This record gives sequence, structure tokens and C-alpha cells, in this order.
Amino acid sequence: MTPAIWSSGLSKPSRGVDVIVGIQWGDEGKGRIVDLYAQDYDVIARFGGGDNAGHSIVVGNTELALRIVPSGALVPHAELFVGSGTVVNPATLVQELDRLADLGVDISRLKVSDRAHVVLERHAVADRAAEEARGAGAIGTTGRGIGPAYVDKVARAGTLMRDYVRHDDPLARRLAGHVVDGVAFIADRIRAGKRILAEGAQGTLLDVGFGTYPYVTSSHTIAGAACIGLGIGPTAIGRVIGVVKAYCTRVGAGPFPTELHDERGERLRRQGDEFGTVTGRPRRCGWFDAVAGAYAADLNGLTEAVVTKLDVLSGFERLSIGTHYAVDGDAAGFGEASDSRLQVRYEEVAGWSEPIDACRRFEELPAAARTYVGRIGDALGVPVALVSVGRERSQLARP
Ligand code: IMP
Ligand code: MG
Repeated sequence: MTPAIWSSGLSKPSRGVDVIVGIQWGDEGKGRIVDLYAQDYDVIARFGGGDNAGHSIVVGNTELALRIVPSGALVPHAELFVGSGTVVNPATLVQELDRLADLGVDISRLKVSDRAHVVLERHAVADRAAEEARGAGAIGTTGRGIGPAYVDKVARAGTLMRDYVRHDDPLARRLAGHVVDGVAFIADRIRAGKRILAEGAQGTLLDVGFGTYPYVTSSHTIAGAACIGLGIGPTAIGRVIGVVKAYCTRVGAGPFPTELHDERGERLRRQGDEFGTVTGRPRRCGWFDAVAGAYAADLNGLTEAVVTKLDVLSGFERLSIGTHYAVDGDAAGFGEASDSRLQVRYEEVAGWSEPIDACRRFEELPAAARTYVGRIGDALGVPVALVSVGRERSQLARP
């Protein structure tokens, strides 16, 4: 019998589904990374969340912020799929399709699973009312109705896209031609040997089961959710690419152990333009958290990492990395992130002063930047395949 041959980190499976997930609290820059990886895939599929997501892509002077349509939209050959595990706001989707059509994008490539659920106006109303009722304990949701739509799904009171498009209203009529049998759509393409890229939304630490509950979103965001959200088996999954920002941000309330409350946090926000894509809210900013990184790597079974926004750190003389947690002097893990007694131990490393946005190879990065990226890879326990050094599509450094 021939023994199985295990591929090392970066090799590509010949067929099947690869997954891209954010390993922090969202806003890692997944959009532009999906846009890049998408060139090698036949289908780009969203598997969870809804228009709480805001994925931005910058190509030349065009800036696109996508909420529902997968970030492969600007890759002409790829089919775009909004999977069964998502919740879809019809008005947002139609707006996005119109914007893409204006840009000359062929939107007939966009298909929506008949099993995706619909986010209705009453969900958004309920979302905002629930937040108000929480008072000081508010989660800081995006207010788009995502939570209530998932509640209705689980309560068996939701509306499927399949049923929604039979309504006689302009949005339903407009979307009817895009709705397909979501199970057959993916299964047929896997059978045909198509390469599928599953695009995660939000981030690992916002996962409803494994994030900083209750300060989380209402869906699973980890790589395993691609199976549920697309209707495929675990055996279909090949690579799992973790997108990791070179520092941490969080929008909304909830634990953030390495948060900075001083001018260094302000500086990260300013240099990183850390304001919400969907809500415009300023994002909370802090140091890279290696404890959270290791936790996320375990939850996702990463095969490789992509480090984003490294350029934002240029000019910091010293950088800190959160390396250990402790509660009352005892070592703790990310599970203790919500404990008010939590203390983070940091390791200081050298920064670099020069701009790095023109670097295209790892060896062109300053030595301190290479060391810093190495530390992130070590924390996640996987090779770093790519580093983004600017907002534009071409601003990437490769090994
Ligand atoms: P919801 O998903 O609107 O219910 O919001 C729940 C939490 O997830 C809030 O803290 C939001 O700020 C956060 N959140 C939801 N979607 C995103 C995202 O795409 N990026 C970053 N944070 C998000
Ligand atoms: Mg975002």
C-alpha cells in the first residue's frame, strides 16, 4: 500500500475548497487578500455573516467596500457565491450589484443559495432595540439585524431566500434570477474539480461559540464554519489561510487584553485608518496578541498566514507583543480574556523607522520588520506566505 504523502504548509491541493479566515476581531484586511488569492480560484464563496461585514478592496483609484458580495468580485473569471450559512439583506445586495454593474463588472456571475436567510427590516429594528435595552452592557453591534436574523433561523421562524424571491416586490424580482439550489451549486463544482475559495467574515475572536462571548457576532466565523455554511464535508477542505493584522483592533465592546489607551493607540488608529467600514466607528487599537493568535491558530487549523498592514507600524521605535496572560499570578489562556484581573505580559522588540510600502520581497524589509513578522508566524505556528505593506492591490511582499 502506498503511504499517504503529507504536503507541507504551502502546497496547493489539486481540487476542493480552501478557506480564508480572520484570526482576530475582524478587519484584518481579508477583502484585499481574497481579491489576490481569487486569481487562482474558480469560485469565491461567502459562508457566513451578512452585511455586518465590510470588505474593502483598492484597485488603482477605485475603492470598493463589499458587504455581501464576495471579495472576488473584481476577478473577472470567478463565479461568486453567497452560501447557505449567510443572512442576506436584499436591499444591500441590490445596491452592491448596481455599484458593481456601474463599474462594468459582470454580475450574472453572482449566485445566492436558496437556503440563505433573509434579513428583514424588523430584524434591524430588533437589533437596535436589543442594544438599547442592554444599556451599559451593549455589544456594539453593527445594527444591521444580523443577530435577530440568526435567532429567527434557529427558532425556525426565518425566511429563506428561496421563499423570499417569490414575493412580488421590486427587490425580490430583481434577485430571483440569482438564487440557485445552494447544495447542488457547490457539490457540482467540487465534482467538476473546480477550485473554491471560502471567504470568512468577521474574525475568529468574534465567533459565537469561541469568541469573547457575549461580545461576539451571531454566527460561527472559524474555518470549520465553511463546511456548515456551504454544505460540504470536512474532507473537501485543503488549505486554511489565516489573515492576521500586524497589530490588533476591535470595533464594538468586549474584552481586548492588549488594547492601548494612550497616544500609541491613537497613532495606530490614525496611521492604520482604523475606522469601521460599515459603521464608521473608530476602532479600538492595541499590540499584537500572541496568546490570542495561538488560540485562533488552534481553532482554525491554519496551514499558512498572511500578515497585513505591516506598513502601519513603521516609525514606532519599540513595539510590544503580548506573549503571556496571567490571573492573580497564575498563567492563563485566551479563555480568561474576560477576567477583570487579567494581566498581560509583553515582550518589547525593536521597531523600524523607514517606510516599507515599496517592498515586494521579504528580504527588502528592514531586519527588525522581518524579525517581527517571524514572531507573528511563531505565535501562529505556521509559515507566513505573504505580507501586505499598503492598501493597493500591488503592495505585497513575498518570500
Ligand atoms: P453584529 O455582527 O452586528 O451582531 O455585531 C456583533 C459584534 O461583532 C460587534 O462588536 C461588531 O462590531 C462586530 N462585528 C460584526 N461584523 C464585523 C466585521 O465585519 N468586522 C469587525 N467587527 C464586526
Ligand atoms: Mg471589516
